[in-house]
Amino acid sequence: MAKVAALVLAAGRGTRFGAEVPKQYRTLAGRPVLRHSLERFCSHPAISQVCVAYHPDDEARYQAAVAGLELTPPVVGGSTRQDSAHRGLEQLAEAAPDYVLIHDAARPYLRAADIDNLIEALQGNEAALLALPLADTLKREEAGRVADTVPRAGLWRAMTPQAFHFDAIRRIHQDHAGQEHTDDASLAEAAGLSVALVEGSAKTMKITREEDLEMMEALLSQAPRRIRVGSGYDVHRFSEGDSVRLCGVDIAHNATLAGHSDADVGLHALTDALLGAFARGDIGQHFPPSDPQWRAADSAIFLQEAARLLRAEGGQIDNVDVTLICERPKISPHREAMRARIAELLALDIDDVSVKATTTEGLGFTGRQEGIAAQATATVSLPPRSQQSQAPGAEG
Ligand code: CTP
Ligand code: MG
Repeated sequence: MAKVAALVLAAGRGTRFGAEVPKQYRTLAGRPVLRHSLERFCSHPAISQVCVAYHPDDEARYQAAVAGLELTPPVVGGSTRQDSAHRGLEQLAEAAPDYVLIHDAARPYLRAADIDNLIEALQGNEAALLALPLADTLKREEAGRVADTVPRAGLWRAMTPQAFHFDAIRRIHQDHAGQEHTDDASLAEAAGLSVALVEGSAKTMKITREEDLEMMEALLSQAPRRIRVGSGYDVHRFSEGDSVRLCGVDIAHNATLAGHSDADVGLHALTDALLGAFARGDIGQHFPPSDPQWRAADSAIFLQEAARLLRAEGGQIDNVDVTLICERPKISPHREAMRARIAELLALDIDDVSVKATTTEGLGFTGRQEGIAAQATATVSLPPRSQQSQAPGAEG
């Protein structure tokens, strides 16, 4: 399978937008504009690496916008879009991809199918770009009046991503350095490449002015986010020891919990609840007990990784609820510390975190104090299906 890289250009200053925060870092549907297309690329199975060209003044904004995403280290962009693309391509050269998709960070709306179609177009073409046939009649202006009507037949609006064979577009950028083309396809055309048109969606519009951001916000908020609930359950047996760890809090006890990791039954149930909410398998699949690196591991790692995976797909945790089932130790004195610890690990408000406990009236294995059980639920919301890259399913 061809190795496909994505290069996202985000080094512009957004002078036409004219806000203090550059447009690619403005908030759209709860996340920075830049993050929207990065999530699409990162979760697309055909894309092997994603790199951003950014402006050094945006260092802190960049780090906040990409938290949890797996990206190639970013490259500092140049003073023109073309220069930023050139630098990005040089950065990607080491990994030697076969193809590259170059994309404007200012186009947050991107469909998985568009990525597929562009990659497919490269099988038989030297280059391809996402574009849209013009619908409006075009007028040429002179001194505030119509000079003439331009026939729109055969005219398309160029958008991004634009797709290329990596070595070819890298060489073209090297040969044309310092010129100022407003997209990479026009550079390729100038170099004599034949460029295919792939019809995209009008929603892949570029955010240029404040009004564009408002339009995009309205567009995205029409498609409801998908509310999902996951549940988890876990049990660990008691063994000889003097403390147990429950929901991230160490509690003195006349026994400990046995397990490969720290045996934090509460966090294990909660991790499974999170993974279940977006159908990403279970804790054993992500952190096999047979793997020595998880021996005595702090279960906070498992919980945080599940949250990272969820957020990398644009998911959001709405609330979590854990029930610990045991006769002893008594949970209520530690309940607030447990809620605080979970809220900290998941970066949630403490009001969105519940910890409860119950005994089983002396019945069953928990009643006989042979071990502790825990169950948990998590409510999450995922981006609208139309923007998703792939149907969610258990990881293989
Ligand atoms: N871009 C870039 N490096 C530059 C200029 C632009 O990486 N030196 C990126 C922008 O961040 C944007 C894309 O190229 O994602 C398209 O450019 P444009 O829409 O023109 O963005 P800006 O240059 O930021 O806006 P303006 O032209 O209004 O200043
Ligand atoms: Mg510009």
